[in-house]
Amino acid sequence: MEVFKTVAGYRTWRNSLPANRTVGFAPTMGALHAGHMRLVEVARKLADETVVSIFVNPLQFGPAEDFSRYPRPFETDSALCRAAGVSAIFAPEPGDFYPSDFSTHCDVDGLDQHLCGASRPDHFRGVCTVVLKLFNIIQPQVACFGQKDIQQALILRRMVEDLSLNLDFQIVETVRESSGLAMSSRNAYLSDDEKMRATAIYKGLTQAKAAWAQGEKDATVLKRIIRASIDAAQPTRVDYVEAVSQARLAPIDRVEGPSVLAAAVYFGKTRLIDNLLLN
Ligand code: PAF
Repeated sequence: MEVFKTVAGYRTWRNSLPANRTVGFAPTMGALHAGHMRLVEVARKLADETVVSIFVNPLQFGPAEDFSRYPRPFETDSALCRAAGVSAIFAPEPGDFYPSDFSTHCDVDGLDQHLCGASRPDHFRGVCTVVLKLFNIIQPQVACFGQKDIQQALILRRMVEDLSLNLDFQIVETVRESSGLAMSSRNAYLSDDEKMRATAIYKGLTQAKAAWAQGEKDATVLKRIIRASIDAAQPTRVDYVEAVSQARLAPIDRVEGPSVLAAAVYFGKTRLIDNLLLN
């Protein structure tokens, strides 16, 4: 497995691949878990070479967020990648990736108004900018993103469509702990008690989805079901519990077309997100 810290080093390797060899890409911020490894698995299935980027992107963190304390266990991450058959890791230094005169950003209008976009104003601009730059460097034919970050995935898919990027964009189902808790690098911040209480998010989403499957289409009722489960677990704060359309990511009153039930909840200082798709 190759490890590249510079764009030039990666490009030399990429250019040395035979023209017909395809690259599958799993972009990450490291602290890899089973959810990331599922992205790697899908990328490996769909392409000849698999590239993982590990880069904690400063552009997508707000001033009061966890950029400096975000876990960076590079040795463990690279061992996991090697064991999973990854061809190359791209792990640039922030100063090289974003030189001091870096001035270009990518915005996808509209889809970032609700859900996480409402409380994290420049977050998706930072995500789109880094992912577009990574796509230009990595040159993948396939790119894999997790459904857990559904707003991110749908915004990036729109960016790929709008800018006619020539790649197969895959949204990969959320991987969960046996308790139902969605895998996240931020789960490492939770105490055992918080981790147990946080399972109420998925429980509430599942109960609401079951009610929807039985005919309940009123978004207020479905949100109330999710909220009851979360409130019973005494969260520190609920950022949102929402029902949105998949097309516009905007709140809906009736859950009838392709939709998303989503929640963002703090346990202690840790903000957790999860969602279920209703198709
Ligand atoms: O989902 C993530 O880990 C990040 O948002 C991503 C896509 C790697 C961009 O920094």
